[in-house]
Amino acid sequence: MTTKQFDTATRLAHSGRTTHAHYGFVNTPVYRGSTVLFEDTKQLKSRNAKYIYGRKGTPTTNSLSDLVTELEGGTGTILAPSGLGAITISLLAFLEAGDHVLITDSVYRPTRHFADEMLTKLGVEIEYYDPLIGAGISNLLRENTRILYLEAPGSQTMEMQDIPALVKAAKAHDGARDIYTIIDNTWATSIFFKALDFGVDITLQAGTKYMGGHSDIMLGAATANERAWPLLNKHNSALGMCAGTEEAYLGLRGLRTMELRLKQHMASGLELAVWLEQRPEIAEVMHVGLPSNPGYEIWKRDFKGSSGLFSVILNPVSEDCVAAFLDELTLFGLGYSWGGFESLAIPFDPSTYRSISEWKDKGPALRFHIGLENSADLIADLEAGFRKLAECRDGTA
Ligand SMILES: Cc1ncc(COP(=O)(O)O)c(C=O)c1O
Repeated sequence: MTTKQFDTATRLAHSGRTTHAHYGFVNTPVYRGSTVLFEDTKQLKSRNAKYIYGRKGTPTTNSLSDLVTELEGGTGTILAPSGLGAITISLLAFLEAGDHVLITDSVYRPTRHFADEMLTKLGVEIEYYDPLIGAGISNLLRENTRILYLEAPGSQTMEMQDIPALVKAAKAHDGARDIYTIIDNTWATSIFFKALDFGVDITLQAGTKYMGGHSDIMLGAATANERAWPLLNKHNSALGMCAGTEEAYLGLRGLRTMELRLKQHMASGLELAVWLEQRPEIAEVMHVGLPSNPGYEIWKRDFKGSSGLFSVILNPVSEDCVAAFLDELTLFGLGYSWGGFESLAIPFDPSTYRSISEWKDKGPALRFHIGLENSADLIADLEAGFRKLAECRDGTA
């Protein structure tokens, strides 16, 4: 059934399914399998059977990649065992020794690690750029620039990027190699930002986060436009990557409710960000959906919404008092992920790994993920944490 004429909510309910193919059951089941048997030698030799081998796709993984491709408006989607897997496959697919890669300084830290540790070893030159550079990126493009890598808003520090300006500069550049633009779109997902419509070549997401939505899977997806799909598909196949069929099933199940969940993450996230902005303990709230945020106008122009992830800078206070705040929280868990139904908080310090953008003389930073709990309960939890912080700071604990 084609659902191209429908709104996203309808597509999320009806795409990626094969009506009546599974004895009438609504969902494509978990097809476990490596070996696929062919009917005869003619079919075996023709290699044009729909399914050939487990790594190359099962009805379950194909249902998911079909749905993701449709939502993104792309040509094809590869699935990976994790979000980072989708990132590394996408970079490797386009790069060779001698290439130059521009990566936003606000990139997800393990992506930076992969670039610094692995890509440089393969003879690829890595350069980080200021996430706020916009059209100024033209000055950094070289003859051998092959990839312009974006993430918006940036990991932890949440800077908004001017994606149309960056894409325009990459397209206008007349180098020896075609430049491909890649975005880590995990924060917004295709619900809030349709990257391919903005001319980006590949849009990535850690399905581990909002797609799964329940903190119980590791999954990645990279969707390419027509120009980028042949190379991405070919090299993914060479690298031997695939997503687990169980994870693909759970990714599909998560997608059915992703838009609904994201709307709630957005509403509660904004409510808490506004509340935090008024608190005396807070120096700055880094949430692109707040009119006070420097990236607000760009976000409003290009994005349809904001998810539940944002950061704050506290007014200067000791590490022990930050720990007292965090340890007092009962609804906010301490954990290195986000995108699930539950709220999380984590401290971070960009001064230890940023290479371009300045990050100094600022107070301690915290990242919050606002889950699907009642927002008044979350506020009460944070209030209790701030009471502990004050007791610690004022020596009354
Ligand atoms: C922005 C972003 N991209 C990618 C990833 C990687 O996803 P995974 O943990 O599934 O490898 C993460 C994980 O935290 C992330 O925050």
